[in-house]
Amino acid sequence: MRPYIMCHMVMSMNGLVTGDFLWTKESEIASSIYFSLHREYRKNGFDGFVCGRTTMEESFTKGSSWNLESTPNLEALEENQKPFYAVAFDPKGKLGWEKNFISDEDPGYDKCRILEVLSEQVNKQYVEYLKKHQIPFIVSGKDFINVENSLEQMYEKFGIRKLLLEGGSVVNGHFFKANVVDEISLVIVPQVAFGGKPLFAEGTLANFELVKLKQESGCIVCQYRKRV
Ligand SMILES: NC(=O)c1ccc[n+]([C@@H]2O[C@H](COP(=O)([O-])OP(=O)(O)OC[C@H]3O[C@@H](n4cnc5c(N)ncnc54)[C@H](OP(=O)(O)O)[C@@H]3O)[C@@H](O)[C@H]2O)c1
Repeated sequence: MRPYIMCHMVMSMNGLVTGDFLWTKESEIASSIYFSLHREYRKNGFDGFVCGRTTMEESFTKGSSWNLESTPNLEALEENQKPFYAVAFDPKGKLGWEKNFISDEDPGYDKCRILEVLSEQVNKQYVEYLKKHQIPFIVSGKDFINVENSLEQMYEKFGIRKLLLEGGSVVNGHFFKANVVDEISLVIVPQVAFGGKPLFAEGTLANFELVKLKQESGCIVCQYRKRV
């Protein structure tokens, strides 16, 4: 068994999800719609979100390197608190977390419990660092992370039933190739972007049907579901 996966992203009119267009005024509006949808999904039954190592570094660890000697900043879960996981696809163990949770201005990301997904390429010292910082982890796959197996482990060991896949293009592509993307939620910016990466580094949307569509503050907000 594996969690249900919804890929949730901001995208340009021409299907790109990275690059300079993300920092325009139009994308600022799209991002605020995106974050409000994320908060809604968090409230309504999703158990966490997944990002690739590059996105986690850009958004949360800000390029900090890990240090086995650093003093961990730990926070215990409140009694009966169901965790919302920030799942990092970090095959070699590069991310330097200062805490075992995320503090963020956005309530949709605040107090997320970090869960590291590693491959067998990881340095043993990084595993020690995670243990010391009480950051749970999964090891799956030899050179690359085995997406299906890592999802099965999340389901079995962490009780994760529904997961948001929030980029970037590379991690999305790995999920798409493994055929585990069940739904796609897009906020489309009315802008043509240059020089970015596509929604999925590999694969197309051919197997999905549109189930929701609306216009909001000049953006297109839509949802697609995999055809069964
Ligand atoms: N438009 C949006 O809504 C949105 C959302 C999120 C991010 N972004 C943008 O996306 C950009 C980053 O995207 P990206 O495509 O370059 O990178 P990414 O998907 O964030 O991260 C890619 C990295 O994740 C690791 N990885 C992911 N899946 C793996 C697997 N199955 N096996 C092994 N390693 C795996 C690898 O780490 P190693 O390199 O350590 O091997 C890989 O290089 C950021 O600049 C961000 O602004 C946009």
